[in-house]
Amino acid sequence: MTDRRSPSGVRAKCRLTLESHDELATRELGRALGVACGGRVCVALRGALGAGKTVLVKGIAEGLGVTDHVTSPTFTFVNEYGAGGRRLTHVDLYRIESEDDLESIGWSDVVLEADVLAVEWAEHAGEELPTARIDVELVLGSGDERRVELRAYGDEACGVLAHLSLSGADHT
Ligand SMILES: Nc1ncnc2c1ncn2[C@@H]1O[C@H](COP(=O)(O)OP(=O)(O)OP(=O)(O)O)[C@@H](O)[C@H]1O
Ligand SMILES: [Mg+2]
Repeated sequence: MTDRRSPSGVRAKCRLTLESHDELATRELGRALGVACGGRVCVALRGALGAGKTVLVKGIAEGLGVTDHVTSPTFTFVNEYGAGGRRLTHVDLYRIESEDDLESIGWSDVVLEADVLAVEWAEHAGEELPTARIDVELVLGSGDERRVELRAYGDEACGVLAHLSLSGADHT
């Protein structure tokens, strides 16, 4: 079956759904993703305000070995961090209303230059997201509960999911 959000021409290769019971578990999932991200990869994050996208990216940064304090790029749009010679680029597209506005934040260069590209409100990039990527959707539950749905497209992204080693979140 073809996923309705599959990038054209790329079949969804791997899926994983987890339950996070608290902020720490989401951060731990991010950390595991960061550790597993060996090559170049885009992590495209979706989910309501306060779902935990930034928390997850803080975990990714930790897993990659970023030592700088990671803050939300809601107002700066793009924050970049060095991690052992690699670059984590954290983008927040909340205030980018359409694909046409992406170049106002230098989107093409951001995509070209990032090693790990973490994009909040990724749906605002539409077809301009890299096709080889991991989509992460955080779905609010009651209280601190979040369902985290991961879908990987392309061999490299699929390999990242396969290498996730998780302790803080429950597989469903
Ligand atoms: N299971 C959970 N995972 C992540 N965050 C959680 C969880 N439970 C509660 N929280 C809380 O939810 C908030 C998540 O905030 P965060 O900034 O990561 O959201 P966001 O999805 O990035 O929102 P925005 O769209 O405004 O950027 C934090 O205050 C965090 O403490
Ligand atoms: Mg955020």
